[in-house]
Order: sequence, then C-alpha cells, then structure tokens
Amino acid sequence: MNKVSEQINTAHHIPAEHEMGVGAWAWGDSLVWGFGGTYNENDVHDAFNASLDGGITFVDTAELYGFGKSERLIGKFLQGIDKPVYVATKFFPLPYRLLKGQLIAALKGSLRRLQMPAVDLYQIHWHMPPMPVEHWSEALADALDKGLIRAAGVSNYNRDQTIRSHDSLVRRGYGLASNQVEYSLLNRSIERTGVKQACDERGIKVIAYSPLGMGLLTGKYTVDNPPPGMRNAQWRWVLPKLPPLIALLNEIGAAHGDKTPAQVALNWTICKGTMPIPGAKNQRQAQANAGAMGWRLTPDEVAALDEMSDRIQD
Ligand SMILES: NC(=O)c1ccc[n+]([C@@H]2O[C@H](COP(=O)([O-])OP(=O)(O)OC[C@H]3O[C@@H](n4cnc5c(N)ncnc54)[C@H](OP(=O)(O)O)[C@@H]3O)[C@@H](O)[C@H]2O)c1
Repeated sequence: MNKVSEQINTAHHIPAEHEMGVGAWAWGDSLVWGFGGTYNENDVHDAFNASLDGGITFVDTAELYGFGKSERLIGKFLQGIDKPVYVATKFFPLPYRLLKGQLIAALKGSLRRLQMPAVDLYQIHWHMPPMPVEHWSEALADALDKGLIRAAGVSNYNRDQTIRSHDSLVRRGYGLASNQVEYSLLNRSIERTGVKQACDERGIKVIAYSPLGMGLLTGKYTVDNPPPGMRNAQWRWVLPKLPPLIALLNEIGAAHGDKTPAQVALNWTICKGTMPIPGAKNQRQAQANAGAMGWRLTPDEVAALDEMSDRIQD
C-alpha cells in the first residue's frame, strides 16, 4: 500500500471478510444467459439463498442486467433475510448521460428496484466518452457525501483510468474501493497490462468477473458439447485447448479432498488476491461454488496453473 492509500478512509473499502461474491447477471437476463428458458426466478432465488447458506454475502448486479430485472429480483429476495447482505451495483455512462446528477438519478432508480436506502458499492460499469474519468469519480464522491453509497468502484477500467479515478476520489477524502475486471485462468490480461499491479499497490480490490470463463472452467463444455448461445462464439477458440487444463484442475482438486475444477479455478483467483464473483443459476451451482472458500492452493499448485494457463493463452 502506498502513502496515498494510507491517507484514505478505509471505511469506504470492501470488508476483507468477503472472500467471494455471487454474480447476478444471469438473474433476469435472457439475452446471454437464457433466463426464463432453462431456469427461472425460483432457481435464482434458490441460488441466492444457497449462496447465503454457504457463507457468500456479497452480491453483484447492475442496472443493465435484465434491464433492471436482476436488481428487482435481488430487492425481492432481500425481504425477510435476517443477515446483512453486501450489495454492489453499477451505473453505465451511456453517451446521453453527461451530468453528475444523472448518476445520482440512476442510482436512485437502482435503490428503488433494490428496495434499499443505500447501496454498499456503486461501480461505473465501463468507461465511455465523452465525459472524463474524473467527472464520474466526482459524481461517485457526491453519492458518498449524500450517504447513498458506502464505497465507490469502477469496472473494466484500464491502468491509467484506474489511477486517475482513484486519485480524484482521494482528493475528496475517499479512494477507489475496487475495479471489477475479467480475470480467470482463461484471461489474465490484467497481469500483463499493469491493471492488477496498480490496484494491488493502492489497496484497490480487484473483483474478478467471469472467473469460471462463463462456465468453461467447470469442465462441462467440450468441442463436442460447446456452450449455448452467445458464449459459443466468444469461447470457441479455447475449447480444443481446454482438456489439459481441466485435467490439471481435477488432479489438484483431488489433493484437496475432491474439489471440483470450478472450485480450484475460483480458489486460484482468491490466491491471486482478487475476489471472484461467479454467477450461479441454481442452488446446486451456488452450493458448489461456495466450496471454493475456506482453503488455499499451495504456491506450487498456483505456479503449475499459471504455467498451464500461459500455454492456453499463447
Ligand atoms: N462488469 C462487467 O462488465 C461484467 C461482465 C461480466 C460479468 N460480470 C459479473 O461477473 C459475474 C460472473 O461472471 P459470468 O456470469 O459472466 O461468468 P462465470 O461466473 O465465469 O460463469 C457463470 C456461469 O457458469 C455456469 N456455472 C457457474 N457455477 C457452476 C457450477 N458450479 N457448475 C456448473 N456450472 C456452473 C453457469 O452457466 P451455465 O450453467 O449456463 O453453464 C453460470 O451462469 C456476473 O454475474 C456479473 O455479476 C461483470
């Protein structure tokens, strides 16, 4: 941690108890994930409850997921829950959103759907022109001042954007809590671009999205059984290269009391100091993913997985 991050108020950071979260993109999204087809509201409600039972009390959503449906479902699921749930959602700076007040208005819409007076973490979903990074950081600081959010985050920010966003939040006495980026054994670009190092040096939590490679690291998808829908085009390149990695994940899992490839792949992201937020569509997936917590791979196992993933990405 550098001098700047020592000065900021750590009350506006993500509590360290959250080893892992659950991603709620698929809760209400039919475009990519097929909500309403192979799974429905009851299934994702079960996934939510199984996550809490398994010790996962961090849920990540966005105003865009299911065009508000994901937030609405979470708002409904939270009713009657007697333990605190840490809720993270996101603002998308669409090109017609130019004023800081538009972030506050969008945030109020999210709070209405979530049925919450304040959200724990509010993230800029993706940097998009015309407004500069600092403009939206200022708007996040305004939301913090108003007590509408408890921590400020970003998502898909590159190294330069992350540092600029952090610096402008520090000037307002806060600091950037997190950068949510794609990170898994199938995508380690944040290690090459310096994003991870910039975050680690400043105490900014890296939240790892798609930590299961959208399901591929479970080992259930193969050349003969590719993932359905839009995932097919995105991940077709990797399917022929996947078997040796899945074999290694199985071998390492066996040494830890029969952990599955998915649990080992998630644990690898935790060992790297990030917080994974795997999606879960039903009780079985949520329960299984919770089994990635509470233990650690050895440094040799992490190194072996690094080496295998390097070979796949070449
Ligand atoms: N900020 C951003 O731009 C951004 C972008 C993407 C994602 N995210 C966030 O990150 C979260 C997770 O990413 P993701 O959903 O893209 O990918 P992921 O977590 O890598 O994969 C989730 C999918 O894998 C399958 N799966 C999960 N657990 C499983 C298990 N134990 N056994 C078998 N299959 C399992 C399920 O799909 P099937 O059963 O259909 O295979 C599930 O929907 C999202 O929900 C969202 O909150 C953020």
